[in-house]
Amino acid sequence: MTPFNFHSTAQEVTEGLDLSGQTFVVTGSNSGLGKESIRVLAMRGANIIACARTIEKAQSAMDELGISGTPIACDLADLHSVSQAIKAIHAINTPIQCIIANAGIMALPTLQQVQGIELQFFTNHVGHFHFVTGLTDLLTDNGRVVVLSSRAHAYARPQGLELDNLSGERDYHDWRMYGRSKLANILFAKSLNQRFQGTNRRANSVHPGVIKTNLGRYVPDREAMYAQIQKTIPLKTISEGTATQCLVATHPALEGIGGEYFSDCQIATPLPQGLDMDLAEQLWTVTEAIIAKVLALKST
Ligand SMILES: NC(=O)c1ccc[n+]([C@@H]2O[C@H](COP(=O)([O-])OP(=O)(O)OC[C@H]3O[C@@H](n4cnc5c(N)ncnc54)[C@H](OP(=O)(O)O)[C@@H]3O)[C@@H](O)[C@H]2O)c1
Repeated sequence: MTPFNFHSTAQEVTEGLDLSGQTFVVTGSNSGLGKESIRVLAMRGANIIACARTIEKAQSAMDELGISGTPIACDLADLHSVSQAIKAIHAINTPIQCIIANAGIMALPTLQQVQGIELQFFTNHVGHFHFVTGLTDLLTDNGRVVVLSSRAHAYARPQGLELDNLSGERDYHDWRMYGRSKLANILFAKSLNQRFQGTNRRANSVHPGVIKTNLGRYVPDREAMYAQIQKTIPLKTISEGTATQCLVATHPALEGIGGEYFSDCQIATPLPQGLDMDLAEQLWTVTEAIIAKVLALKST
């Protein structure tokens, strides 16, 4: 348990921490929760490696915030771009304290694919899998990985991940596919954490809350959606929404805690499929195969 809750902000959960000399890599750093993360981590002294689809987006976010750091182009929907980002980060040649796999897209109204894989699943899970596994060798001895998931992993029900339908072609549904990608985020963090066994490295996933950001851009009437959600769950501010990922990325009290799913700054319980280690291992194998196939295509 931590002393923080639903209303804690990213600034509050990092209060008093000195992150100087520690490097944090954040994807989706130009918007919403990613941008607030780099602001608060930099305020605590961290070195920032800010990733965005383009180097210009990463740099202008840091300029707007008045912080310095290294901008990296990383388009998660393009594994070649992800490989280039991995290479560029290796070239910086600095140990990484934490990778926050934060970028994401949600509820694409029509089926879009990359190399035959549905775009939300590809961006949110496959791109991050390649990115994170390409950088784990740079993690410090007690380095952490934080993967942004969502309570919306519940939308993957009733079928769940459907590893035989990652193309999304069978019965495409905008929210269900988003849910699958977010379930994959939980399972990826669990499998990765298992691979960290015997080390002090840890991986966890996070539900940040519901926050009005650019994430809702593809939802036709996003204001109506937020109004509907607000009837049952209060919305968070961006700073409240960024608290859980910043806490899990930095807090000394969480040293040694891994393979967990956090919400409102506490350990929470995902749906049963988010606890299924057999499924997590199947997903790992399938994802490695997708990446190998796509990278082989790119290099021919
Ligand atoms: N906001 C919420 O209520 C909520 C709830 C649950 C979970 N989450 C999760 O929180 C994370 C952050 O979301 P947010 O609310 O901060 O959304 P956001 O403001 O839309 O930010 C998403 C970020 O992801 C980037 N991105 C999208 N596609 C990308 C790609 N192909 N390659 C690289 N970057 C890409 C976006 O870049 P561009 O600006 O270039 O598009 C943007 O920087 C997501 O993983 C989301 O699923 C959010």
